Amino acid sequence: MDVPSRTLENLARGLAEKNRTRSQYMLAAGAAHREGLAVAELLFVRTAEQERVHGRQFARLSQELGGEHVRVEGTCPLEMERDALGWLRRSKEEEDREAGEWREFARQAREDGAPEAARLFEEVAQVDETHGDRFARWAGRLEEGELFTRPLPCLWRCTVCGHTQYEERAPERCPLCLGPGSQFLALDEADWF
Ligand SMILES: [Fe+2]
Repeated sequence: MDVPSRTLENLARGLAEKNRTRSQYMLAAGAAHREGLAVAELLFVRTAEQERVHGRQFARLSQELGGEHVRVEGTCPLEMERDALGWLRRSKEEEDREAGEWREFARQAREDGAPEAARLFEEVAQVDETHGDRFARWAGRLEEGELFTRPLPCLWRCTVCGHTQYEERAPERCPLCLGPGSQFLALDEADWF
């Protein structure tokens, strides 16, 4: 059975949105870099890479289902934030909005008799919810000045050289590679790394 155009258009919308989100996160990574927040830069770059892969999967499935020539119209707003904190907050909102959209597209795909598309939209929704939760948590910690501290000692790892140490806060400098403390990630935040 041919997949209805609605689901093919939703896959094309998915690709367009993922491309936009990816480029926003690269702008956000630049802001974090300028503020000397090395791990926040890394977080945005890694998340952007995952967005790219999600977009690729939308494109691949669309092609498999015969949708390679489907076109969708839309806007591509250029909305900038002033700093990494602004980007974290805004990214949380966007991830939540997108996750809701993917869930609705999954529902439509099931109605359209396209279970592979439904499954892909559901899986991407699940990941985007984790992206949103993480951005919100980082925004809160950055705002409270707690990105590099914990109430109890924990394991910190240098994201550049792999050095680890057990402390309540990240060191000022990495004793191994001599990079700044902003390269350190608490291991309770290392699920994405
Ligand atoms: Fe290091």
